[in-house]
Amino acid sequence: MTRMLRAPPPLALILLLTACNRVGSASDAEGAAKTAAILAAMPAPYNTADLANGRQAFQLCSACHTAIEGGANMTGPNLYGVFGRKTASAVDYKYSPVLKAAGWIWTPAQLDKWLASPQTTLPGTKMAFVGLKDPKTRTDVIAYLHVVSSGGPP
Ligand code: HEC
Repeated sequence: MTRMLRAPPPLALILLLTACNRVGSASDAEGAAKTAAILAAMPAPYNTADLANGRQAFQLCSACHTAIEGGANMTGPNLYGVFGRKTASAVDYKYSPVLKAAGWIWTPAQLDKWLASPQTTLPGTKMAFVGLKDPKTRTDVIAYLHVVSSGGPP
């Protein structure tokens, strides 16, 4: 307090910092609220998943996938909006014939099967990923993917 009185920062700077802080915390709060709403709408056990763990596990997927709106197709397709969508429907991505013919709807349960072992679930898929053996990691990564692919904060 005494230090502030001795060398008061210019008023404009104080106002600017205060404004920035407010914008920052408002969007953080908005993001947190959106995340909470998306999670709450998921069935158990996803609604209580560990998103930090899911985010970390998603780094494995990030080698081949983006999940945000407008993200690029890479080795694998962009995953924005994947839940509730039919298999193989990202635009401008060349899927394998087997995934095109699969005709599933991507639900958390379907994704759980897929991520346990893509090659066993669908022989001939070009998703060259060994799978996630740990069921809890799958739950966490599916919940995280649901948040991000529904427009929640990454
Ligand atoms: C080595 C690259 C690679 C990795 C790592 C990878 N994928 Fe994939 N993924 C692909 C490819 C390639 C396809 C397209 C498969 C096909 O057409 O048969 C795909 C397809 C998918 C699909 C189907 C998309 C659709 O539009 O039908 C989902 C969902 C998916 N991956 C999720 C994941 C998740 C979640 C992870 C991480 C746990 C992951 N993938 C890791 C390459 C990868």
